[in-house]
Amino acid sequence: MAEVRVCADAGELSCRVAEAAAALITDAVRSTGRCSLVLSGGSTPRALYTRWASSFVDRIPWAGVHVFWGDERFVPPDDPRSNYKLAKDTLLDQVPCPAANVHPMPTSSPTPEQAAGAYETALRRHFDSDRPRFDLVLLGLGPDGHTASLFPGSPALDERARWVLPVTAPVDPSSRLTLTMPALNAARHIFFLVTGTEKAEALDHVLTGAADVRTYPAAGIRPESDGLVWWIDRDAAALHQHRR
Ligand code: 6PG
Repeated sequence: MAEVRVCADAGELSCRVAEAAAALITDAVRSTGRCSLVLSGGSTPRALYTRWASSFVDRIPWAGVHVFWGDERFVPPDDPRSNYKLAKDTLLDQVPCPAANVHPMPTSSPTPEQAAGAYETALRRHFDSDRPRFDLVLLGLGPDGHTASLFPGSPALDERARWVLPVTAPVDPSSRLTLTMPALNAARHIFFLVTGTEKAEALDHVLTGAADVRTYPAAGIRPESDGLVWWIDRDAAALHQHRR
């Protein structure tokens, strides 16, 4: 059963997530020698990344952290819409994570199909396993119920074997890469970060457990590890709390 942690606002949420995620990252590095961390894109995680950059430089064992992305826009890495650029500017340029441990989705590949195939090959080499057992995955929620770049009605929602797919999103930039449900659900821990009233309806549908995955893809995030935590602020929780 997923845990739901309600925070007063986005500021408290980024503080609490920064601490909780740092503890999971540290535990993973201490017990296995490394942490495989998946970053989310969008605007919500920006405050978390800047908090890690300002207050966790010495509190997270960055040398043991491998950074991946849950999805990426198929744009150059220096494009302002790039999820890699967001993380590089707000976090990775400020912490001692070795460059060899930073694994951006290869949007300089000739095509999205080749990029997805190359990223999957890199993941299979990293995990040397039939499952990508990420230690922690950060995800956001769109007002339409999408997560990563798994959008309502997308054929990617039916994928059960591949770990990375090229997709066409209904928002700009439309060409994207995304981890698939099986890849995401193999994770040990998944943190959703959701703030703002515009997410309240989608969040309520997903948290009630009755949502259809094709309509609200985030409802398909059900890690076998049962390590799912919804970090939400009061604005995003408004409809769901009212239902209780
Ligand atoms: C992306 C993200 C996407 C995001 C949600 C929420 O590439 O845009 O991966 O899934 O997490 O759209 O975005 P906000 O945090 O900006 O609301």
